[in-house]
Amino acid sequence: MSIFGKLKVKYLQSDCRKNLLQKMDKKTILECIRNAEENPSDVDRNILSGFSGAKIISLLKNFASTIVNDRATYLEVGVYRGLTLLSVAATVPESEVFGIDNFAFFDKYGINLSIIRERMTKLNIQNATIINNDFEDALENLDRYTGDIKTGLYFIDGPHDYRSQLMSLLLIRPWLTESAVIIVDDSNYLHVRQANRDFLITNPEFKLVFQSYTKVHPQNCSAKEREEAESGWWNGINVIVRDPDNIFEPFLPPTMPDKTLFTNDHHIHTSMYPEAFRKYSRIVDLIASCRLRKPAMKLKGKYKSMNTYSDDLTYDHFNPSFFSNIVQVNDKN
Ligand SMILES: C[S@@+](CC[C@H](N)C(=O)[O-])C[C@H]1O[C@@H](n2cnc3c(N)ncnc32)[C@H](O)[C@@H]1O
Repeated sequence: MSIFGKLKVKYLQSDCRKNLLQKMDKKTILECIRNAEENPSDVDRNILSGFSGAKIISLLKNFASTIVNDRATYLEVGVYRGLTLLSVAATVPESEVFGIDNFAFFDKYGINLSIIRERMTKLNIQNATIINNDFEDALENLDRYTGDIKTGLYFIDGPHDYRSQLMSLLLIRPWLTESAVIIVDDSNYLHVRQANRDFLITNPEFKLVFQSYTKVHPQNCSAKEREEAESGWWNGINVIVRDPDNIFEPFLPPTMPDKTLFTNDHHIHTSMYPEAFRKYSRIVDLIASCRLRKPAMKLKGKYKSMNTYSDDLTYDHFNPSFFSNIVQVNDKN
C-alpha cells in the first residue's frame, strides 16, 4: 500500500518542476516526495552505476528542478562514480552543480575520478564540478569553489560515521539558502539517525519532513530485497528542510535510548591500535564469540558488518504538519 494511504491530499496536484527561488511550501515539498514514490527514476545502470536507489535519484531530480538555478546550487558530499551527481546535472543543464569527494573509499585503483569524467563526456554533461577534497576542508571554505552562489539542495552521501554525519550538517549551515532542502542517504544506520536527531534538536530552524527506512542495509538483503532497495530508497532516507518561518513542527528520526554504542567510541579511540580496528574487528568479534561469558548480547549486531539497527523501527513517514491544514477526502472523491 502507498505510504500516502487513503489520505488524498488536495495540494498534491501542484507542478514540482517549476523553476523558482521562492520559499519551499508544503505543497511543493510533498509533491516532490510523492513524485519520487510513484515515479522512481529510470537509470541506465550500464552508464551510471553506483550506490543509490531509484526513488532517491527521482527525489533529487524533482527537488533540483524546483530549487536549482543561478542563485541556488546543488551540492553533494560523496560522489563515487557520479550516479547521483550526474543524474542531477543532466536534469538542470543550465545550472552549475557541485560534488565533493576525496576518493578515499571504494577506489582501490584510483580510477573513480576518470570514470566520472568519461561518463560526463558520454552523457554530454558540462555543468558538474568535482571538488576533489576532504568534505570538511571543502565545506569550511566552500565559497572558494562555489563563489557567491548558495546551496539550495544538499545531498549527504559521504562517510557515514556519527561525527562525519554531524559535521556534514553543521558545516553547511552558512552556505545554505533560506529555504534549503537537505537529503540524507543511508539513514537506516542508527548512528546516522542519531546524528540527524542531534542536529535537529540543537538547530531548531531545521525540520525533518520525511523519513523512510528498510530493515537492513542492502548488502545484508536477499537478491530480491536488494532489487527493491535499488528501485526504492536504498539504505534509508531523511529529508530535512530549513524552516525559518516555522511552518513545520519538530519531528525526529527514531533512535535508541541506550547510548552504549556511542560511548564505546571512546574505547576505540583510546585502544592500543585504534586505526587497525577496521582490519581486526572480525578477529575481535570471533574472540568475543568464543569466550565463555558472552559480551552484552542485546547490543550484538545481527550481521557481520553493515548493521543498521533498523529492523524494528516504528515511525511515521511524514512530518505531521503536512496534514494539519489540508482536506481529507474519501478515496471515491
Ligand atoms: C557511498 S559513496 C557515494 C555514492 C554516490 N552518491 C553514488 O551516486 O553512487 C561514498 C563516497 O564518499 C566519499 N568519501 C568518504 N570519505 C570522504 C571524505 N572525508 N571527504 C570526501 N569524500 C569522502 C568516498 O570516497 C565515496 O566515493
